[in-house]
Amino acid sequence: MIKIAPSILSADFSRLGEDIESVKSADLLHFDVMDGNFVPNISFGLPVLESVRKYTDMVLDVHLMIDKPARYIEAFAKNGANVISVHLEADHPTQIAEALGIMGQCGVKKAVALRPITSADAILPYIEELDMVLVMTVEPGFGGQKFMESQKKTVKKVRQLLDQYNPACDIEVDGGISAQTAAQIKAAGANVLVAGSSVFQSADRAAAIQILRTI
Ligand code: DX5
Ligand code: ZN
Repeated sequence: MIKIAPSILSADFSRLGEDIESVKSADLLHFDVMDGNFVPNISFGLPVLESVRKYTDMVLDVHLMIDKPARYIEAFAKNGANVISVHLEADHPTQIAEALGIMGQCGVKKAVALRPITSADAILPYIEELDMVLVMTVEPGFGGQKFMESQKKTVKKVRQLLDQYNPACDIEVDGGISAQTAAQIKAAGANVLVAGSSVFQSADRAAAIQILRTI
């Protein structure tokens, strides 16, 4: 099943409630947390998540672009995350395993994220316990970048590995997803599509979401 996850990084934060309302036909709400270390940008964090949680029943999909994420899993879970992604490049494997273990204890869905440089095989140590794998289709850090065609092969490889070890696991793609790029990345095996600028810059956001879902 194809799911669409608008990224509020592209919303207007002075009217965030209205912007969330305008994308409520989507399946998840994608929440990009950036620390200025793991990526060269700073976005928002726990207080914003806490407010959004009170405002909407949507599934909150938290993408942590932060160093040493195990430190913050419990706090993001307690403040309303339903799914959390940690980057495999953000800590040593033992600490990534630790982060996933805390997600399990907190009852949130478990995901790992891959920068474009990271190979699909990097998911293998955790593959059987994952609910989702997030394959970046741009360098993480900013919205509005160009989709990297070369990431189609990473998605295909992740799909092959998941077919073998964990077929129910979702593959999310993030970065440059639009009506122009959605079909090719779905064909590669992705089933959860993050979309920031292509949804929020659209005059009819519900229509933009429906196009991404069905195209
Ligand atoms: C980038 C973020 C993305 C971003 C996507 O680091 O992880 O979620 O908001 O934005 P678009 O869809 O505009 O590329
Ligand atoms: Zn993201």
